[in-house]
Amino acid sequence: KRVAVLISGRGSNMQALIEAAVDPSYPAEIVAVLSNRPDAGGLATAAAQGIGTAAVDHRGFASREAHEEALVAAIERFRPDIVCLAGYMRLLTADFTDRYAGRMINIHPSLLPLFPGLHTHERALDAGMRVHGCTVHFVTAGMDEGPIIAQAAIAIEAGDTPDQLATRLLAAEHRLYPHALALVATGAVRWVEGRAVLAEVGG
Ligand code: GRF
Repeated sequence: KRVAVLISGRGSNMQALIEAAVDPSYPAEIVAVLSNRPDAGGLATAAAQGIGTAAVDHRGFASREAHEEALVAAIERFRPDIVCLAGYMRLLTADFTDRYAGRMINIHPSLLPLFPGLHTHERALDAGMRVHGCTVHFVTAGMDEGPIIAQAAIAIEAGDTPDQLATRLLAAEHRLYPHALALVATGAVRWVEGRAVLAEVGG
């Protein structure tokens, strides 16, 4: 399966996907990395590895819709089967999420449906959680609300700061995202009428 990755920043999850896809037996190939920020660190990292990149700066457009239209055109030049959001920090319109329904996935740094949105590590600590985690889900119009594909949990330790927790969770994200993308690329998890359905083993 051909995969385009959308980022806004450093792109460490993007890099985890690229590294997984180097293995010829991995069921997906990273064919493009796109960003709304021309200065996103991950764009340069991807280009240095010979991956096609494109920046579509949202600041150059009058509306969210106009930006997304240009972004879709840039994405479609790479003919991806699957779109992975990896720290892509723009809200998406329903038109955009509908276009890629069932083939666009996102990684979020919490055990959804707990803590959608920002500052998830701080909020998990404030809530007195003893575990924290990350979620890969299909993207729908509701932010961080789409059907869950895979999750990983980590323990919260006494004295953890939000930064320490974020660092430990990031390592778990880097393992989870390649696994979750493989589940979607092989059809082990499928989008069926707006739900994420696990294929039955042997079925
Ligand atoms: C990750 O924590 C991801 O879960 C969140 O944004 C961060 C992106 O980090 N959505 P990176 O750019 O992949 O390093």
